[in-house]
Amino acid sequence: MKNGLEDVIAAETQLSDVDGAAGRLVIRGVSLDHLVGDARYEDAAVLLLDGLMEQPLSEEDLRRRLGQARAEIFAHVAAIDDGLLRLPPVDIMRALVARLSDAADFASALRLLAAPAVFLPAILRRKKGCEPLAPTPSLSQSADILAMLDGRRPSAEKVRALDAYLVTISDHGLNASTFASRVIASTGAGLTSSVLGAIGALKGPLHGGAPGPVLDMLDAIATQGNAKPWLADALDRGERLMGFGHRIYRVRDPRADALKSALKPLIEAGEVDRGRVELAKAVEQAALAILKERKPDRPLDVNVEFYTALLLEALGFPRDAFTGVFAIGRTVGWIAHAREQALEGRLIRPRSVYVGPMPKAA
Ligand code: ACO
Repeated sequence: MKNGLEDVIAAETQLSDVDGAAGRLVIRGVSLDHLVGDARYEDAAVLLLDGLMEQPLSEEDLRRRLGQARAEIFAHVAAIDDGLLRLPPVDIMRALVARLSDAADFASALRLLAAPAVFLPAILRRKKGCEPLAPTPSLSQSADILAMLDGRRPSAEKVRALDAYLVTISDHGLNASTFASRVIASTGAGLTSSVLGAIGALKGPLHGGAPGPVLDMLDAIATQGNAKPWLADALDRGERLMGFGHRIYRVRDPRADALKSALKPLIEAGEVDRGRVELAKAVEQAALAILKERKPDRPLDVNVEFYTALLLEALGFPRDAFTGVFAIGRTVGWIAHAREQALEGRLIRPRSVYVGPMPKAA
């Protein structure tokens, strides 16, 4: 038995391949570095879902119907009441997603793709005391998310950067939330149940809850000169450095570089604080050096969350909403895996080893 099921193969998939030794991610036959350069969110969604729904998919059709789905989903934001507003954004998102019907057809998949994208901006506006803004179905998913955040038409650089983020994180093998989604789908439950379980698995700091704490770390370090002593103190206290280490990657997470590249046009357009980026680079170098020194037997490199933090901050998302943005992007992967598992039709039901006491003999 392996704690944490490390290295255990628990599914066959045609959706994505994570090569931890080579630092390579392939999504349905396309390597991430190719995909992230050209693809919009809608392209990645078609790539992942095609062949798994009851009808063939095209980018144009998905984009049009996703826009309509966002408009329909908007009615649910009226359910954000004062009680819900006391919760963190991802928990409010979870509560709102739970209101959706639980089927497994393409219309349900579209509602679930639209829901986190509509809910998160509405939640963030309500938390600021502002009215939620209705979606614009003719916009792309990324442009509409940014427009619903602050009511302004976003710059092309920002839309491109959000597309790059959503595509980069759209799927990633059998990570904890995707496994949760597959387990639920294997029982014959619908897609809403899978997505709800996956959101619950995602929000922990060991999975999708790390980018907020990355910014907390950068704020606490504050200056490049403070990076080394601050990181040493954190490790002395037994803390983990957020944005570093990965269960599968033994080299640099390829998604970190995809996001670092996606930041460049924003930096050139003056949409990112250059000082912040320079501080992050210095912290990255200092962290890599100290992790190598302290954990010589465990290769620890930067993971996706480190540059996610800078990118999402530049796009105007508050740090407590980062996990929710992750959920917007990963929902398509969760749905694709849930469908793949459901089509396979086999219940996931592993066994455990009982290590408790046995009843005494009479
Ligand atoms: N900082 C310091 N030490 C670390 C870190 C880190 N970020 N990550 C792992 N280690 C150390 C552990 O303390 C352990 O050392 P030990 O053997 O001396 O006790 C050793 O490396 C192995 O750690 P494991 O817990 O076995 O590694 P695991 O594969 O379970 O961890 C994980 C992966 C959870 C991502 C871990 O690296 C971590 O906690 N990172 C920080 C949180 C983070 O960035 N999460 C986002 C991950 S990316 C994503 O899910 C989208």
